[in-house]
Amino acid sequence: MAGRNFLFVPGPTNVPDRVLRAMAVPMEDHRSPTFPELARACLNALKPIFKTTSASPILFPSSGTGCWEAALTNCLNPGDKVLTSRFGQFSHLWADMCTRLGFDVELLETPWGEGAPVERYLSSLKQDKQHKIKAVLVCQNETATGVTSDVAAIRRAMDSVKHPALLFVDSVSALASIDFRMDEWGVDVCVSGSQKGLMLPAGLGVTCVSVKALEAAKSATSRRCYFDYGDMVTNNASGYFPYTPSIPMLYGLRESLAMLAEEGLENVFHRHSYLAGGVRAAVFEGWKLKLCAAAPRWYSDTVSAIMVPEGINGAEVIARAFKRYNLALGAGLSKVAGKLFRIGHLGDLNELMLLGGIAGAEMAMLDVGAKLEPGSGVAAAQNYWRSNPPAIAAKTAAAKKSGIAA
Ligand SMILES: Cc1ncc(COP(=O)(O)O)c(C=O)c1O
Repeated sequence: MAGRNFLFVPGPTNVPDRVLRAMAVPMEDHRSPTFPELARACLNALKPIFKTTSASPILFPSSGTGCWEAALTNCLNPGDKVLTSRFGQFSHLWADMCTRLGFDVELLETPWGEGAPVERYLSSLKQDKQHKIKAVLVCQNETATGVTSDVAAIRRAMDSVKHPALLFVDSVSALASIDFRMDEWGVDVCVSGSQKGLMLPAGLGVTCVSVKALEAAKSATSRRCYFDYGDMVTNNASGYFPYTPSIPMLYGLRESLAMLAEEGLENVFHRHSYLAGGVRAAVFEGWKLKLCAAAPRWYSDTVSAIMVPEGINGAEVIARAFKRYNLALGAGLSKVAGKLFRIGHLGDLNELMLLGGIAGAEMAMLDVGAKLEPGSGVAAAQNYWRSNPPAIAAKTAAAKKSGIAA
């Protein structure tokens, strides 16, 4: 098919040309005396991305899922109790992994479309007088439903009852696009991956581990080997890895971190919020549709899960978009299969790129029989962006109140 593919799944995201070029390198010796320069550049530049000065960023040759497993097996003993909530496919998969690894899971079932139920976390923590819960898990941005949760509120709930559990956060589709604060929120393990806000191919598990979690890992007896924090941190201290790292991924990461630093992390967050506002304007004002996210406080700035009109199958919209317009939209997963499609709006993106995704989704919906006003979503997004200049905090706050910007 002539022309480019429009990639609007919520990860993998578009890899900027600058990053692709940085990755086109010959292989080199990962035990050479100069290698630590590259490793240290990556690990040091990740600290501000996690907003930490004390925790240790770690890079595993995996995707985000490997970092979920690493958090559990490094910090917990077999059979330990964990508290988590399920409100989408990814929070489901992490909870399921806990069960499959033999942990005792207290699961807060939550309607899909809502975020982490802070009051119910609090009540479980309050009841746990003997501190049997060893880790509290929360998915900051549920990619399946386009819902962002309030991690700081979970930390406040833990502190209010002086609960000593570790706090593990899945920030796979939030890190480097939606604010995340490792130190301020007292997060013990942050789990992420390379293929979303970090604008790289999939293949690096990007995680960050607090001093408290590293200490717990020293005595935790769950079995692990390849994903051992101790081996990684010991080798990283001298600028090396315990096994062969992907050299192109490290060069790519160094470049993407430089791009994020040049734009400024807070500007990156504003850009995501601003772009998301345009998508929400298309959904609400243009198409008169609904999001899966049930209330503005949960609207995600990195992915919108758009409920298709009655009688329309979301899978058909996605298939039509792909085959006819070379546009990749995110599918409805599991419980919400067929009921929605997702537009990922994270990573290396601007208004005109996003208009391509909105226009293609609009055409695909029309083609499969949705009763929409042609051009309405595109026009609403254009109007939103033209009247809400990017990167101005006050404007973003005002738009938030109107419910378009979450
Ligand atoms: C919120 C969330 N958590 C975890 C994962 C799993 O990450 P990966 O596919 O990188 O293993 C994803 C993937 O999309 C995700 O969106």
